[in-house]
Amino acid sequence: MSVRRLAEENVQPASFAFNEQNAIWAEATIRKYPEGRQQSAVIPLLMRAQEQDGWVTRACIESVARMLDMPYIRVLEVATFYTQFQLKPVGTRAHIQVCGTTPCMLRGSEELMDVCKRKIHKDPFHLNEGGTLSWEEVECQGACVNAPMVIIFKDAYEDLTPERLEQIIDEFEAGRGAEVKTGPQIDRWFSAPAGGPTTLLGDEASMGGTASGNAEGEGASVPPSNAARAKTAADETNPTLKTPATAPAAAEANAKAAAGTAEGEKPAPESGKS
Ligand code: FES
Repeated sequence: MSVRRLAEENVQPASFAFNEQNAIWAEATIRKYPEGRQQSAVIPLLMRAQEQDGWVTRACIESVARMLDMPYIRVLEVATFYTQFQLKPVGTRAHIQVCGTTPCMLRGSEELMDVCKRKIHKDPFHLNEGGTLSWEEVECQGACVNAPMVIIFKDAYEDLTPERLEQIIDEFEAGRGAEVKTGPQIDRWFSAPAGGPTTLLGDEASMGGTASGNAEGEGASVPPSNAARAKTAADETNPTLKTPATAPAAAEANAKAAAGTAEGEKPAPESGKS
């Protein structure tokens, strides 16, 4: 794990400001939170600042702190904690974050880092000659089952070999990064076993297919579970009733049926009461 410090003063800009479009977005984002909870917008604001300028500067941290009425140190803590925030300039076409935690290490992350050292720079956080590429080692990115893997900006590239990582780096260097397939780089459906499911094979139709059969991400059709559901007959928890968002016609029919029931079930006035 690398030490996360702000960039040297000689690369820090004197000031930071959101551009007009991002400033409007930032104000709207802050308004989403209840009064007194505006500090919850710290992560989205820092991320938008990074998307605007490419990295999180000291001036940016101070500016976000002022916008959210937070002590500078609190925003600095957030920015230096998450490896998703870049604290110094990174490659303009790709910043490769190689997971080096145990599962990825056991599956070859050191060879992936050798590729980065050879193709980008011998040291992490250094730009290549053209300023287009950089790399670093990070801790677990939550895709251990598909180890080894790297993150490039917001996307994960998994089940990597050194050869495949070389190809991916070349694609990004050539400006074709958006065309590179994300996720598993082998015949695997998300995190299912390589080559297709090996368990629960009795009803393949409900499993949604295999790696090659459903690589576009069509979800499996699995009936909703009743586990931990409250035992109640309220309409809000009736799974057979469609919601207006998913089936407006069915929702209208439900509403009419409910109104009819309510009308028909009106209790008769009790005798002796006015
Ligand atoms: S150890 Fe690499 S993603 Fe978890």
